Amino acid sequence: MKIISIVGARPQFIKLAPLSAKLSEFHEEIIVHTGQHYDYTMSERIFSDLGIRNPDHHLGIGSASHAVQTGNMMKVLEEVMLAARPDLVIIFGDTNSTMAGALAASKINIPIVHVEAGLRSYNRAMPEEINRIVADHASDYLFAPTRTAEGILQGEGLGDRTYLTGDIMVDTITENLPVALKNYTSPEGLDIENLEYNLLTLHRNYNVDNPGILKGILKKLEDLGEVIIFPVHPRTMKMLEGIDFNGRNIVFTEPIGYLDFVAFENFSKRIITDSGGIQKEAYILRKPCITLRTETEWTETVREGWNLLVDPSDEAMCEKITAFRVPLEQNQVFGEKVTERMVEIINGI
Ligand code: UD1
Ligand code: UDP
Repeated sequence: MKIISIVGARPQFIKLAPLSAKLSEFHEEIIVHTGQHYDYTMSERIFSDLGIRNPDHHLGIGSASHAVQTGNMMKVLEEVMLAARPDLVIIFGDTNSTMAGALAASKINIPIVHVEAGLRSYNRAMPEEINRIVADHASDYLFAPTRTAEGILQGEGLGDRTYLTGDIMVDTITENLPVALKNYTSPEGLDIENLEYNLLTLHRNYNVDNPGILKGILKKLEDLGEVIIFPVHPRTMKMLEGIDFNGRNIVFTEPIGYLDFVAFENFSKRIITDSGGIQKEAYILRKPCITLRTETEWTETVREGWNLLVDPSDEAMCEKITAFRVPLEQNQVFGEKVTERMVEIINGI
């Protein structure tokens, strides 16, 4: 088959890596990068860390409002698809690149695989929630990462298109952890292997787009009185530049490569985040995770006691963080050998 994989944002490159490597053994794969993320650290660095070959098409769309960004993507994606006439399109996750791919392909009747289908936060103020709903309902093969996601798709009448595959990020991290631990670079002046630190990331619109809210979260975290390493997402960096805040004990860095980031996760005491992918990686690496949100799509990590939701406006944030303890047991809710299972299903299409 001729297959187009559409990616555009950092977490999508991480999901693409193992699938693309395996797919190319059986099919002709065309990688299309929308250009939603474009900084070296958010895009090229991740491609090179994970050995993903250069995209066949780089659309260079860049940042804009939701409608402008999504519309611009759809226009060029349609041109690429009409020229290539693929048998299948693969989309990943829940970004604007995902939704643009879903709408453009479904309107010209190209079958779509959606990797990471069935996620719901039931918070419609998140742009990702709209992207997920549209992508799932426009797609033909829904690859559910968890039983919860499978159940949600069945509940929405999509059960006959749903395949429980497990989460592909398991394969990315399992394959790359040994490499990461051998080759990582510590932030300047820090010996992360022998340091007790928290690893922090923040980029959700409701946590970072309002400078007062962002500063409030960081001030509370400063009161933990522990070292916090904080690789700052560009969306968050833009806000931080306008805030007068030094952050005692907080080590601010640029976004870092995937291999370094996984090593930072591995050596951390706990992970504090609002990222979707990082909640899963914390679970896989058996690290306590504090999610600074009031809800999550990855409910099984909370149910099993490895992830604690803390409302970012909660005045007792520090006490909740320090009191959080994880159990010994895990049920491997994200599966294993996920790429193999996905490629098996794709080969049968
Ligand atoms: C996007 C996804 C989000 C995902 C996240 C992963 C949508 C609606 N959101 O959020 O689901 O969790 O990626 O990181 O698709 N910027 C740069 N350089 C870059 C990229 C972005 O400076 O390489 C800045 C721009 O000012 C831009 C802002 O970050 O306006 C937001 O970028 P955007 O891609 O719109 O959303 P993210 O917050 O990155
Ligand atoms: N990540 C990275 N460098 C960083 C921060 C995160 O490589 O500085 C990786 C992380 O290991 C995970 C993914 O990026 O695999 C998560 O992406 P992000 O938090 O941007 O988006 P989300 O998962 O919330 O959509």
